[in-house]
Amino acid sequence: MSPSVRKAVFPVAGLGTRFLPATKAAPKEMLPVVDKPLIQYAVEEAYSAGVRHMIFVTGRSKRAIEDHFDTAYELETELEQANKQELLALVQSVQPEDMVCAYVRQPRSLGLGHAVLMAEPLVGREPFAVLLADDLMVGQPGGPSVLAQMVAAYAQQGRSILAVQEVPAEQVRRYGIVAGEPAGRQLLRVEQIVEKPAPENAPSRMGVAGRYILTPGIFDEIRNQPTGVGGEIQLTDAIARLMRQEAVYAFEYQGKRYDCGSKEGFLQATVELALQHPQVGEDFRNYLRGLRL
Ligand code: UTP
Repeated sequence: MSPSVRKAVFPVAGLGTRFLPATKAAPKEMLPVVDKPLIQYAVEEAYSAGVRHMIFVTGRSKRAIEDHFDTAYELETELEQANKQELLALVQSVQPEDMVCAYVRQPRSLGLGHAVLMAEPLVGREPFAVLLADDLMVGQPGGPSVLAQMVAAYAQQGRSILAVQEVPAEQVRRYGIVAGEPAGRQLLRVEQIVEKPAPENAPSRMGVAGRYILTPGIFDEIRNQPTGVGGEIQLTDAIARLMRQEAVYAFEYQGKRYDCGSKEGFLQATVELALQHPQVGEDFRNYLRGLRL
């Protein structure tokens, strides 16, 4: 049986330049969609998939993330004294008691592959998930989260699994693109992976979304790897090398992805999640109906 996925890595050391000036001093991952920061959606997704050990690869001006997943002693005391039990429970629910958070710094933004390598001492030699919080993933209503679906696929295959979705031809240059052979329900065995290809060079339109389950062999590949596209150490290149050693699978998940690293995706997530929100959804729907668009 494959070892279970117990640890998740959240690379949050990027500069978030597409959201400047908001991200000058505040982390992109703390931008809220309705009432929860992006990073909390990703952590909750990992938790729902059975992961309890969360590893954040942080950088300068990311301290708010550590504070968010820590006890807020003064706030909790004040809420308790004011007998605001519901709010207190809400604040405390951010860090369930059985969840462990660890932090490691990436001293410079040298790329996603480099960020993942920073987590090696905390991950060790076991399979682990990687979640990019700026991809906000929502499973189907009532269904498992995207990472939970991937953990189930990993339990079957015991090999690295990449979340993929079909993307429009004009967008392939924004993604890692994979091509391969069908290997069962929702699965492809990856034969080719390229980072941000020009549409005429793309081997398919299957784009990698920000969820991965990786075997520890990936660390050896990243360590021995030259810089790639954009002068960065790309995770995609390391995956291409890993494929020479062991099978890698692409998994067509069920659910919806919002690219919250871009303003358009962030706004779409805000509107759609606000419409579903139990407190504000109905009023917000009425408000939108009244807009002259
Ligand atoms: P992106 O390139 O999408 O994010 O990296 P960015 O650099 O933060 O944002 P822009 O493009 O300047 O607006 C994808 C993910 O990888 C992390 C980012 O934090 C993001 O979650 N990352 C990227 C790192 O942790 N370290 C890096 O060196 C690069």
